[in-house]
Amino acid sequence: MALGITAWSRERVPLDPIEEAVRHKTVPVHRHSYAYYLGGMTLFLFAMQVGTGALLLLYYRPSATEAYESVQFIMTRVPFGWLIRSIHSWSANLMVAAAVAHLFSVLFLHSYRRPREMTWVSGMLLLALTLGFGFTGYLLPWNEVSYFATRVGTDIMTAVPWAGEFLVRFVRGGPEVTGATLTRLFGMHVAILPMIATVLLGLHIWLVQAHGMSVPPEVAEAAAKSGRRVRALPFVPHFVMREAFGWTVALALLAGLSAFYPWELGVKADPFAPAPAGIRPEWYFLWMFQALKYFPAHILGIEGEVVALGAIGALAVAGFTVPFWATGPRSRAIARWGGVAALIMMAVLTLLAYRGEGH
Ligand code: HEM
Repeated sequence: MALGITAWSRERVPLDPIEEAVRHKTVPVHRHSYAYYLGGMTLFLFAMQVGTGALLLLYYRPSATEAYESVQFIMTRVPFGWLIRSIHSWSANLMVAAAVAHLFSVLFLHSYRRPREMTWVSGMLLLALTLGFGFTGYLLPWNEVSYFATRVGTDIMTAVPWAGEFLVRFVRGGPEVTGATLTRLFGMHVAILPMIATVLLGLHIWLVQAHGMSVPPEVAEAAAKSGRRVRALPFVPHFVMREAFGWTVALALLAGLSAFYPWELGVKADPFAPAPAGIRPEWYFLWMFQALKYFPAHILGIEGEVVALGAIGALAVAGFTVPFWATGPRSRAIARWGGVAALIMMAVLTLLAYRGEGH
């Protein structure tokens, strides 16, 4: 009977090409193999976001008069609502960290080399979307911190040459951060960004599948010299079982963090109250926020903020285009050490921001 059902469904839903691809997929084994788990970890955390986000939607209300109260209701009255909201918030932060770790591991191991250029570019776009999810989700509880941080964050956009005014109005849905901003960011957070993310994620994973896992040049050269082949692990079941172990640990971590440090709600936003002291964005935007403070008001007659945004933009362009300029051993070394320098700079600026320097 069981065989009959399998044959029946196989005839109607032929999954053979996928089965075939998965059966032949292998993962190289070398001392940097840990890097191959980071993309899967990011994917797991993204799946957590989709699941917990859908549950939050059942009770959340996207308006300035009801948003805060609906989140309060979720935290105090809905059974396990506090757990779902806390997991959504913790997992969002861990997902940003996992995606950044994935990016740097891929950069340091030169996995972006031909023919994986588009895997890199789609990954960069996914990271930008992940940050977009963070930014648009931050305002949704409509509390004091999120309200003023969104005001400051969107204010910075005015410094963008030519398009600044338009950008701010586009994101705020008007000249100020109001209920219209909340509705707009909510729409982006639960509909527009997920739609784009689904397409990009499909492309990213499909490209990974089509090209197979990359072997770092150093590992390939060492294997060629010794006349041995690089060892490989079957994707199913060996690699998947190890990934599943990692996901179980991540789930335990999320549950532990949520139980011991439930996500706070704070006080309701009052748009007419003065901004409280020490308002700052989420940790992953802090380095940019801090960098802006160090630029003088004017540099060669150009506004300091404009120059700072230009520098951050140039860094982003250099990052997006890595596979197109880092094509030889020397330029790849520049990409690697440039990445190390960028990482140190971001870490130092973030630390300085936490210590409240530059006020
Ligand atoms: C939402 C964010 C992302 C998700 C869910 C994701 C998911 C994945 C998965 C599951 C893999 C296969 C396993 C692995 O190599 O780790 C992978 C590989 C890859 N990812 Fe991502 N990724 C994301 C963001 C990024 C970013 C930000 C970059 C870099 C700009 C990137 C570049 C790559 C590259 C080049 C590979 C191929 C690695 C190889 O062949 O060795 N991804 N990604």
